[in-house]
Amino acid sequence: MKTLIAAATLSIATAALPASVLAQGAGQGVAAGEKVFRRCTACHTVDEGGKNKVGPNLWGIFGSTAGMRATGYKYSDALKSSGIVWDATTMSKYLENPRKMVPKTRMAFPGLKKIGQRNNVIAYLKSVTQ
Ligand code: HEC
Repeated sequence: MKTLIAAATLSIATAALPASVLAQGAGQGVAAGEKVFRRCTACHTVDEGGKNKVGPNLWGIFGSTAGMRATGYKYSDALKSSGIVWDATTMSKYLENPRKMVPKTRMAFPGLKKIGQRNNVIAYLKSVTQ
């Protein structure tokens, strides 16, 4: 029982971490981006051969055409027909407001409004997906 409570407390503490870290605006680049990416991990994995979750695995994302890359993942027609090629610029625009850039994309994420957060998460993704 004690262990259960400790585990529960720990997971609450971990879940609360990204917001507090972000509120302090801590760090730059890859390390800060890894913390921002905690908001994506419910839906995305980044490792080579990683599984698709609600969203596609992101290995090899840079330079790929949107909606064409992750094997066995069912992308929306909206993303598949967007013609977007992922680089830092297009990804920043998508992450700022996915549905503004690709109306009807299935990525249900409100967006990262701060450019610093987008730059950091992109730096992190570049470091782990290629
Ligand atoms: C609630 C789940 C969810 C969250 C949270 C989420 N995504 Fe997604 N993401 C998706 C889905 C679903 C798709 C596929 C969209 C489609 O097919 O229209 C997607 C697609 C993408 C793509 C395009 C993939 C490709 O192969 O073209 C990128 C890049 C991406 N997400 C990055 C992120 C990042 C970075 C974050 C965090 C800042 C994030 N996502 C948060 C669900 C999510």
